[in-house]
Amino acid sequence: MKNFHQQILEGIPAHLPEPKPYEDKVSHAPRRKDILTPAEKELALRNALRYFNPSLHPALAPEFLAELKQFGRIYMYRYRPDYAMHARPIDEYPARSKTAAAIMLMIQNNLDPAVAQHPHELITYGGNGAVFQNWAQYRLTMKYLAEMTDEQTLHLYSGHPMGLFPSSESAPRVVVTNGMTIPNYSSPDDLERGNALGVTQYGQMTAGSYMYIGPQGIVHGTTITVMNAFRKIKADPKGKIFLTAGLGGMSGAQPKAGNIAGCVTVCAEVNPAAATKRHEQGWVDTLVDNLPDLVARTRDAMMAERAESIAYIGNVVDVWEHFLNEDLFVHVGSDQTSLHNPWSGGYYPVGMSFDAANDLLASDPDAFKEAVQATLRRHAAAVNAHAGKGTYFFDYGNAFLLESSRAGAKVMAEDDIHFRYPSYVQDILGPMCFDYGFGPFRWVCTSGKPEDLDATDRIAGEVLGELMNVAPPEIQQQMQDNITWIRDAKSNKLVVGSQARILYADAMGRLKIAAAFNAAIRAGEIGPVVLGRDHHDVSGTDSPYRETSNIYDGSQFTADMAIHNVIGDSFRGASWVSIHNGGGVGWGEVINGGFGLLLDGSDAAEKRLRNMLFFDVNNGIARRSWARNPEAKFAIEREMERTPELRVTTSELVDEKLLDQLSFT
Ligand SMILES: NC(=O)c1ccc[n+]([C@@H]2O[C@H](COP(=O)([O-])OP(=O)(O)OC[C@H]3O[C@@H](n4cnc5c(N)ncnc54)[C@H](O)[C@@H]3O)[C@@H](O)[C@H]2O)c1
Repeated sequence: MKNFHQQILEGIPAHLPEPKPYEDKVSHAPRRKDILTPAEKELALRNALRYFNPSLHPALAPEFLAELKQFGRIYMYRYRPDYAMHARPIDEYPARSKTAAAIMLMIQNNLDPAVAQHPHELITYGGNGAVFQNWAQYRLTMKYLAEMTDEQTLHLYSGHPMGLFPSSESAPRVVVTNGMTIPNYSSPDDLERGNALGVTQYGQMTAGSYMYIGPQGIVHGTTITVMNAFRKIKADPKGKIFLTAGLGGMSGAQPKAGNIAGCVTVCAEVNPAAATKRHEQGWVDTLVDNLPDLVARTRDAMMAERAESIAYIGNVVDVWEHFLNEDLFVHVGSDQTSLHNPWSGGYYPVGMSFDAANDLLASDPDAFKEAVQATLRRHAAAVNAHAGKGTYFFDYGNAFLLESSRAGAKVMAEDDIHFRYPSYVQDILGPMCFDYGFGPFRWVCTSGKPEDLDATDRIAGEVLGELMNVAPPEIQQQMQDNITWIRDAKSNKLVVGSQARILYADAMGRLKIAAAFNAAIRAGEIGPVVLGRDHHDVSGTDSPYRETSNIYDGSQFTADMAIHNVIGDSFRGASWVSIHNGGGVGWGEVINGGFGLLLDGSDAAEKRLRNMLFFDVNNGIARRSWARNPEAKFAIEREMERTPELRVTTSELVDEKLLDQLSFT
């Protein structure tokens, strides 16, 4: 068999590789909707075959058509590589560009079976977050990356490598777009059709941008959210309930976050396999499969003020309703089912088993949709009843309120414009984190050495300690949370896949930490480091029901910020940039972007990080400040004092009394 280098450099082999068995023990993507007409199926096949020499078409055509009919997509399973899929140390990649090697490492991490949700369908997380649409795209991309120089840029259209174009050393090595469509063609069915045709994909946020780092990314953000939710209602989490749903890719972080926050977490999960997996992984303490046991165990943990996470195998609607009957007071409530994807198994109807619901989905999608909407109405009614008793409920950015309102549930406020519950960004992450510039900054040690990660943890902790000494009171709580996080990061054993770390830092924190890493690389203390972030951040994402839900000047439905961010990052030194339609809340509902930046210890890297990270964060703060958000106004004024070259248009506030005197009818 050819070695790893040879296989990468081979790209799409000239001969037909052996067919790959369909491995049952691997988690596979659900069968996708059969949406194409016969003529469109022919087009999808034609599209797939254009990657291959015509001599192979007679063998591949029936095989790919069978995949399309059976799975709703052409994944080209036969072309899955023979080597093990995981991030290797950067020096093990065949490459003429160090940056390109770093990107290969990040791609392989996103497809690592230990990291990815449906690795054989190239899905990293969220059910549909794709790195590539098919294995031909993967192979071609890896070959391009291996061959490219620092004078070329690879352009990727939704997983498809359009090719290498001449550029310059200071340009990004890779430019990624995922799912970008003409706005009027951005309905869920447009995505299904385009994806089935092989011309677009749902990149989620960190899947199609190669920045997923396993569950720790989400554990950190979820911990911050749960801790601050209790702070918001001024309640000590001890002995108090946090009721929610979902033990999937991201939602599975909730029980762990609840434990770190110190509350009693009750998390319903309708899929027994998902609940059991999280229990076996130690992410949730207790598994129960009936409501009386759930109530008893919950009351016991409350009485003992024990930080305990309890998974209920079943539908969350049953829990909300049953806790109401049992008069069990829920202090904090939310939901993390996949309502960004409501009609294809993201949210399960109450009153039927998981298997029965899946059968209904396959046999009668319209009936499934009706059952989902009826469930949402019941779900919202039960939440409303709890909220009437004082429960603090927030939308967790999963489109729960949006889909509930579309289903006719009573979730609108009295003005019939806003929802009656805040989103977690409106109340928690927006004002407490994003508006000050705190967001999911992350790094990957490309040597693959745990000692390098330890060193970066130590360096980051030292930098935060120094910054804490000069931090204004407004951000001291966030700084302290981060210092605690980075101090405990190693012992929390959160690394899955590459040697990566997340840390919710602000602009100054990101910059200083990155500069300290670059100095350590230059001194030979650690190997090169990739910097990046989740798109779910202060600047990268325009998403009216999530990241920008705390923008109140009417601009929450615009996407200028995300576009400026990715363009601005690209010429300020990013190693790769990406911009996506969809991600988190669903196709057509969000535009999100991000970057990767390789630090190699050089002066050029130092210049890039200073220029790019500064813009990457402050672009969003400027926009939030222009929207009159007080925390962002504070943060941008502070930044302008520090940085004379920064001149931002600031918003003036109108005297409320003046407006009250005017008639607007
Ligand atoms: N964690 C975060 O910080 C965060 C932030 C923003 C948005 N989100 C959103 O949270 C959602 C969940 O993400 P994920 O990656 O965990 O998705 P996922 O699909 O992997 O997990 C969702 C889980 O919910 C379960 N579920 C569905 N309907 C249910 C019901 N009625 N009762 C009980 N369980 C039910 C499913 O079986 C599944 O395991 C997404 O919409 C995502 O965009 C998460």
